[in-house]
This record gives sequence, structure tokens and C-alpha cells, in this order.
Amino acid sequence: MNDYRLIFQKRALDYHFAMQNYPHVRFHEFNNLISSLNFSSLNEILDIPSGGGYLKHFLPNHLNVTSTDFSEGFTNNDIKLVSPEKLPFKSNSFDAVFSLSGMHHLKNVPQFVEECLRVIKSDGNLIFADVKKETSIDVFLNQFVNEYNSLGHQGDFFHEDYFEKYPNIQNKIVECKYNEYPFVFNSKEEMILFFKLFFGLDKASGSIIYEGIQNILGIQTTCNRIEVNWGLIQFKLKK
Ligand SMILES: C[S@@+](CC[C@H](N)C(=O)[O-])C[C@H]1O[C@@H](n2cnc3c(N)ncnc32)[C@H](O)[C@@H]1O
Repeated sequence: MNDYRLIFQKRALDYHFAMQNYPHVRFHEFNNLISSLNFSSLNEILDIPSGGGYLKHFLPNHLNVTSTDFSEGFTNNDIKLVSPEKLPFKSNSFDAVFSLSGMHHLKNVPQFVEECLRVIKSDGNLIFADVKKETSIDVFLNQFVNEYNSLGHQGDFFHEDYFEKYPNIQNKIVECKYNEYPFVFNSKEEMILFFKLFFGLDKASGSIIYEGIQNILGIQTTCNRIEVNWGLIQFKLKK
């Protein structure tokens, strides 16, 4: 199956359950995304695609955060269903737009980035982080998850030169960095359950999931927590 709108409709419940029950796991990933901005003079923020609106909980309270997703599986009164081809917002509406791990299934990434730039105010920022091509995360998603999720997984991942052929986007990149940080768990059982639900690993037993994580991503165990290596390439654009 390669219709990711339908895939996420099916996967949304389990994904959301994992995020609701283990909100600490991706703490570093969300904080990394927002760490380069000073929010004190900002008001309007767009999170796209937001999944269940998780980023909002990491942002200062004074901000007005608009959470949006491309899949009906995640949308409700607080999360608006939008299309990546044409965003339903006026030009120059947002101080900053964030996109976390949501672009590698899009048919036309440059078109989506142009739309994000359109709705950002002049001097505002688009910050997005996604999987970097040829990393262990790429292998984990496009090989391991692809094998053990019955809906499959084929992402088109990113690299530093991704926007070279799109000067209007390339010229606005002010930072491009690969950031590494862990997913953090309280126990081995929590780690296996989170991975099973978050990545939809319905065809894998607990021991296969453990081995996949250990062999492909790598695990560090301390006395009271387990850390799994993770990392994303992050682009910061200024309009
Ligand atoms: C890995 S989740 C990331 C969600 C959230 N930003 C987070 O970090 O938890 C990917 C999101 O992208 C949306 N998405 C990406 N590509 C899509 C597509 N082609 N069709 C529908 N939804 C898509 C999904 O609905 C899902 O919410």
C-alpha cells in the first residue's frame, strides 16, 4: 500500500496511544526542533503535519498554535485537516512554521515547502526535521518497519543537497544540520510496546522488535533508563 493518507488513517490510533501514554520518549526530538528560536516576540505558530498536536505541549503558553494534519486519522476539533498542496491560510499569517517527520511521504515536497513559505510572515522561519538518507534511521524505517508493518514503509528521505535544484528554497536555507539524540524509555517493555504502536509493527514479536532496535539503531542502558539512538536532519529557512 502506498497511499499514506489511508495508511496514517489506519495507523493513527496506535500512534496517538503511544504518544499519549509515553510523552517523555521523544522529548529531545521536539526540543531540538524548537531550540533555535526565541519565542518572546512571536505569536502565531503553525505545526504541520502535527499528528495529535504533540508539539504544542513543548511550546510557550503565550503562543497561538495552529495544529494541522493531512490525514483524517488525526484530525478533530483542535486539529484541522489540510492538504499539503494548498494550505487554507492567508499569505504572511505565521511567525514560524514547524514540521516534524512529516514530509518524507509527500508527493511534492518543494511545492509543500513553497506553501509553507507563502503563509510565513516576512522574516519568519520554517523549521523542519526529517529522516536523513543513508542513516540507520533510514534503514530502520525503509527496511525493518517496511518488513514488519503490514502496510509497509517507503519514505523518500532528505540530504543536505535536497533543494539544490530549487533556488527559491535553497536561497532561504540558513541552517542545515544532522542532530542526534535518544528516544528515552523507563524499561525494556515500554520500549518494545512504544515501537510496536508508534511504527505499527503488527507482524513482529517483542523479541524481533528488540533485536531490530538493538542491531539497527543501537541501545544504551543506564541504571534506570534505556536510550535508543535517533537523529534527524534539520533545515531552518528564513523568509
Ligand atoms: C510520523 S507522523 C509525524 C506527526 C508529528 N509531527 C509527530 O512528530 O509526531 C507523520 C504525519 O504526517 C502525516 N502525513 C505525512 N504524509 C502524508 C500523506 N502523504 N498523506 C497523509 N498524511 C500524511 C500523517 O498523518 C502523520 O500525522
